[in-house]
Amino acid sequence: MSKASATGGEGGADTVGGSRIVAIGSHVPEKVLTNADLEQMVDTTDEWIVSHTGIRERHIASDGEATSDLSIAAARRALEKCDIDPQQIGLVIVATVTPDEPFPATASFVQHALGLQRCAAFDVINGCTGFIYGLALASSLIRTRQEQYVLVIAAETLSKITDWQDRSTCVLFGDGAGAAVVGPAEPGTGILAVEWSTNGSAAHLLNLPAGGSRRPITHELIDQRQHYIKMQGHEVFKLAVRGIPEISLGALHKAGLTPQDVDLLVMHQANQRIIDAAAKRFDLPPEKVAVNVDRYGNTSAASIPIALAEAEQQGRLKPGDIVLMVGFGAGFSLGAAVVEW
Ligand code: UT7
Repeated sequence: MSKASATGGEGGADTVGGSRIVAIGSHVPEKVLTNADLEQMVDTTDEWIVSHTGIRERHIASDGEATSDLSIAAARRALEKCDIDPQQIGLVIVATVTPDEPFPATASFVQHALGLQRCAAFDVINGCTGFIYGLALASSLIRTRQEQYVLVIAAETLSKITDWQDRSTCVLFGDGAGAAVVGPAEPGTGILAVEWSTNGSAAHLLNLPAGGSRRPITHELIDQRQHYIKMQGHEVFKLAVRGIPEISLGALHKAGLTPQDVDLLVMHQANQRIIDAAAKRFDLPPEKVAVNVDRYGNTSAASIPIALAEAEQQGRLKPGDIVLMVGFGAGFSLGAAVVEW
């Protein structure tokens, strides 16, 4: 008997069924930017970046390479791994804060490129929790709307909205994409529980000030570099470290599980110190914690599915394993998902 069914996970006992991640894939751009490269660009050092974040290098999209390009590549990898007819996909969700264009949805470009007919498509704009929120929507729609399969993609080209003159942010971010095919499952298996929350009073701590309806783009705003990511990193750090235990324990509780049941913790890869704090809080040894922030930096929404795909590739996920995914970021939003692999 699985841990979840043994402890009565919520997986949809009173709903039409369950949902699960059928396959996962990822893709990152070829170009690598190292800390040594950044030392040539801004007043920083490899030592500062590694000691404050754990990041050593990140992948950067080339000119003309857009979020949908990364999304399509990641989605193809996920689809290759499962034996479903792509035409069974009823919905494409792309979680991103770096859409190809402000509108239409990047998901529309992805749907077209993948040749998916009879399929709806939309974006979720929620920063680093985007994959968890997309997963929650997919799971819910499969269980209540009888959608057959949903493609949940999380993809970012943060390099395009990074201020390469601002050392406090430019050393942090990277580009990449992860994609999950989500489909139906027996109740009490697969996606067991998702918890989410938003603290809008802290929304100003991480944002892109110009280019929306509040401050449409002007030459003046561009001169002021307001069309780039702004982050009060230290404040975001404190909110993350405080919020992660509560949202994680909430999701585990909903699934009828505890931190002792977790086989793999897949956190949003923003900072090695935040990952270490969560692992310590849940008493999880390094072999139960996915880490790739050193090689990809912070890829916002994409970081959890990239880490998940990598863990699967490394053979770190066995059927029946309990995976706790935790996201935190712009909004200020938090999200945690408990999945039985
Ligand atoms: O993905 C969405 C969620 N985002 C996050 O979770 C990010 C959370 N925040 C963080 O990870 C950390 O706060 C940062 C890595 C962004 C910053 O680390 P910190 O330990 O909080 O540093 P700080 O911002 O308090 O800055 C410490 C010092 C400052 O100098 P002074 O004022 O003490 O003289 C900064 O100017 O480090 C300086 N500094 C740098 N020095 C060298 C800031 N960036 C750099 C840099 N190189 N790149």
